[in-house]
Amino acid sequence: MNKTYHVAMIMDGNGRWAEARGEKRVNGHEEGARVVRDITTFCSNHPDIERLTLYAFSTENWKRPRLEVEFLMKLLERYLKNELQTYINNNVRFEPIGDIRAFSKSLQKTIKEVEEKTAHCDGLVQNLALNYGSHDEILRAINILKSEKEDITEEMFSNALDCKHQVDIMIRTGGDHRISNFLLWQISYAELFFIDTLWPDFTADELSGILADFKTRDRRFGGLN
Ligand code: IPE
Ligand code: IPE
Ligand code: MG
Repeated sequence: MNKTYHVAMIMDGNGRWAEARGEKRVNGHEEGARVVRDITTFCSNHPDIERLTLYAFSTENWKRPRLEVEFLMKLLERYLKNELQTYINNNVRFEPIGDIRAFSKSLQKTIKEVEEKTAHCDGLVQNLALNYGSHDEILRAINILKSEKEDITEEMFSNALDCKHQVDIMIRTGGDHRISNFLLWQISYAELFFIDTLWPDFTADELSGILADFKTRDRRFGGLN
């Protein structure tokens, strides 16, 4: 059977998870990174999931305290270096989305290396959203296309975006019911799941439950079934 699902996740609630334990917010990010690995591994073994797009750092997250941003940058670099072999072992292709030019040269190099060293993997695709914002992505696409002589089609526009694939299942952990500038073009007909679980507590079992619920939904895409 062909794998077809594109699952996107807004991984929210790391800070609150740590604060509820009397710990520093960054401990929540550390725990959150472990869950990224577990969920990616689960998805790589799942018969239906083709693509997993994870919101790791938004274009708005630069507004956070300097020390938290610095910690997130170091965590990302350490995560990618440590997990390279896990990506390869699980046949997962790493494809970042977002404008990584804002990151340090060293982090950009690590991101490119993991992308190159997993380019041959043909199992799950993990799109990690790094300095990603939907508005920024759409504006960059418009700038790519602005010298076109012909009228822009939906296909041309999609192809100019970082994430060229429509989302089937959008999950936000952490209790808030908002999209926070994530994949606005791509979620036009996604099934939305907002759950209270904080990201560090999210498990493959809970994801399995969401996938089972998704299968019961009647997706009409504006037509009649
Ligand atoms: C999500 O968790 C991770 C990032 C945005 C990097 P948060 O850090 O937003 O955690 P809360 O929402 O403050 O609990
Ligand atoms: C969304 O979470 C961004 C990521 C999960 C990376 P935020 O915590 O930044 O979103 P808001 O501020 O609650 O909307
Ligand atoms: Mg948050």
